[in-house]
Amino acid sequence: MGYETIITAQHGRVLLITLNRPKALNALNSQLAAELIDAVRAADRDPGIGCLVLTGSERAFAAGADIKEMQNQSYDAMYAADWFAQWERFAATRKPVIAAVAGYALGGGCELAMMCDFILAAENAQFGQPEIKLGVMPGMGGSQRLTRVVGKAKAMEMCLTGRMMDAAEAERSGLVARIVPAAELVAEALKTAETIADMALPIAMMTKETVNRAYETTLAEGIRFERRVFHAMFSTAEQKEGMAAFVEKRPAQFRRD
Ligand code: CAA
Repeated sequence: MGYETIITAQHGRVLLITLNRPKALNALNSQLAAELIDAVRAADRDPGIGCLVLTGSERAFAAGADIKEMQNQSYDAMYAADWFAQWERFAATRKPVIAAVAGYALGGGCELAMMCDFILAAENAQFGQPEIKLGVMPGMGGSQRLTRVVGKAKAMEMCLTGRMMDAAEAERSGLVARIVPAAELVAEALKTAETIADMALPIAMMTKETVNRAYETTLAEGIRFERRVFHAMFSTAEQKEGMAAFVEKRPAQFRRD
């Protein structure tokens, strides 16, 4: 599939995806959604990719769902198309995905960043759910994911007022893993992704799946799930190699097939 709204570039075992609708501040229209989901699904199938980085421009990660595309939609059409349901396929990416966010991450842009496994933010990043100003509310998971990440008070304030959070507040609130100077954002995200891609891929995928369980289940069930997956790891070549390498005081050599 030739892409028009995203740019993909492979850096070793890392796939860098850059949202590329600069005139619309990377607003997420249907074409971009289809292309982005196609790219991440292909990366999920590609044994040569161990981690993904999703970024935008210095001015905007993404300024939200495309308002012009939605403006004249009806309830019937939205319902029939199950509008935004396709984003669940992005959120279901099995390999680790880092969001490298500079500039605006608003509405669907903030929601897309939260669908990634963690966010690295440039100092100029701004996060917000301003949909209420458009007479709607978050529709790509923001009311749920933002609330789980930053807690009810901040999520409610942001969703009800449309107020933006800067990078420092986002880091304090747990929305962002780390703040990076804007000029170094993509390089730092690639470096972090390379660290992850150098690990054993099936183990990284199982770790992602297990951490994500924390959002979907009770503590007791989550701990049981963790223990089952932990035990299962002892059937993998990766556990044998990783622990043997430690004992033999050498770097681990994980399979790459
Ligand atoms: N959809 C479509 N086009 C958008 C857009 C969006 N979400 N955000 C920006 N654009 C377009 C603008 O229309 C403008 O295009 P034109 O030059 O053709 O007029 C271009 O991008 C540049 O934008 P501005 O001129 O507005 O730039 P600015 O620097 O003055 O303001 C901004 C930047 C504060 C981000 C402002 O563009 C803005 O408020 N954008 C909308 C943010 C928003 O409401 N996002 C939520 C969308 S709804 C949603 O996401 C639902 C959901 O839950 C999934």
